[in-house]
Amino acid sequence: MSVLFKGGTIVNTTGRCVADVYAAGDKIKAIGIDLDNPADEVVDAQGMYILPGAIDPHTHISMPFMGTFAQDDYETGTIAAACGGVTTVVDFDLQQKGETLLEALERKKALAQGKAAVDYSLHPAVMDPRPEVIAEVKQACQEYGTPSFKIFMVYDFRVDDATMIKLLEETKKYGGLVQVHAENFYIIQHMNEVLAKEGRLSPYYHAVSRPNIAEEEAIARAAKMVELTGSRIYIVHLSSKEGLRKVKEAREHGVDVYAETCPQYLVLDEERYNEPNWNGAKYVMSPPLRTRESNAALWQGLKSGALQVVATDHCPFDFNGKKDMFGKDDYKKIPNGAPGIETLLILLHSEGVVKGRLTLERMVDVLSTGTARMFGLKDKGAVAVGKDADIVVFDPNQKFTITQSKLHMNVDYTPFEGMAVTGMPRAVYSRGERVAQWNGEQMEFVGAVGRGRFIKREPFEGF
Ligand code: URP
Ligand code: ZN
Ligand code: ZN
Repeated sequence: MSVLFKGGTIVNTTGRCVADVYAAGDKIKAIGIDLDNPADEVVDAQGMYILPGAIDPHTHISMPFMGTFAQDDYETGTIAAACGGVTTVVDFDLQQKGETLLEALERKKALAQGKAAVDYSLHPAVMDPRPEVIAEVKQACQEYGTPSFKIFMVYDFRVDDATMIKLLEETKKYGGLVQVHAENFYIIQHMNEVLAKEGRLSPYYHAVSRPNIAEEEAIARAAKMVELTGSRIYIVHLSSKEGLRKVKEAREHGVDVYAETCPQYLVLDEERYNEPNWNGAKYVMSPPLRTRESNAALWQGLKSGALQVVATDHCPFDFNGKKDMFGKDDYKKIPNGAPGIETLLILLHSEGVVKGRLTLERMVDVLSTGTARMFGLKDKGAVAVGKDADIVVFDPNQKFTITQSKLHMNVDYTPFEGMAVTGMPRAVYSRGERVAQWNGEQMEFVGAVGRGRFIKREPFEGF
């Protein structure tokens, strides 16, 4: 299969130019003016951007959580990814008690077998940190192709500081990267007790129970562990201005703290929790939505480079019957998480680039090139000869109103319902195969289920 993209504006982090792109097999083979390579498909890309496929390094596919399961499986989740211009997914793989990391990886790969529509990789989440599991970091970095390790500072399965230190020491030796869900467990526990006594249990109090200071303290503490060990961490789903300040302070002192944020923390705010009819439950995620001041600070952090990646934390639970029912008397029982894999690129373009908060090149960095560098996806993340032909032909002028019925995620709502965006994918290619296209009203999946491959990633080489 070969494709010739004619006359589009190729966008990389280093700049943009109008040229043709020739892809054959899995790879981009040539970029130039007036290419005439014979091709199975010729795409007229004039007026379109040619973007590298987005990479979502934070998803929870089929994850058991809070008494239920995140509803997208590998089939629905990666179809939605393709329709959103996401051509690589790095999914979390939560180690169960007694498992080795390898067993956890094999278990999750079996779920993806025959189902993934785009390429995927896995981050093991260390939840049973036995000494032999910490020792497995070496193989995970050198053999399994999974050199990033998630830890939680909250929830029942949180790790203590001593475990964090051990993991940081081990990952430092082998080029691993520790990813941290940074919230202070004890602050949240205290707030939960206070709010329960006062009978404050509606969704709004989810945000009150997890104040900015809980994120700020946890990031500051994790950063100190990095300083102690000389290793590096990556803060997942950074949400607050105060948390960002701690990331910046660490970086200014030469401490390797990297961070991602997510569209929900950029474009939504805590007022959403006050929506009537328990609708606020739709936005219950951890950390919670913050104020507009934090939204603005995070945009600025992306622009300046203090934040390196935008991911989704895609973790879908239906509103009807799950978010509204499980937690109908108490915000603490609402399954934490929200859907977002399909709206990543369009929100970043419309709210970021169109509104002048980010350049197009910076958007490509935080969605593709920087993400590939951070997570060792050496064949992904740029429109360049030799890279995988993961390409989004993007129409910067196409209007679309985000609505659940026109999306593909296996969930009954989107937190971005009714938002009007400017810019939509026209066609999405994964290793040279068209997997999704615009049909005039919405995106449709045109790929093959099961064609997605597990991608072995390289250890961290520096950012
Ligand atoms: O609320 C969230 N973020 N749910 C998914 C699990 C996690 O903490 O990332
Ligand atoms: Zn988390
Ligand atoms: Zn998450």
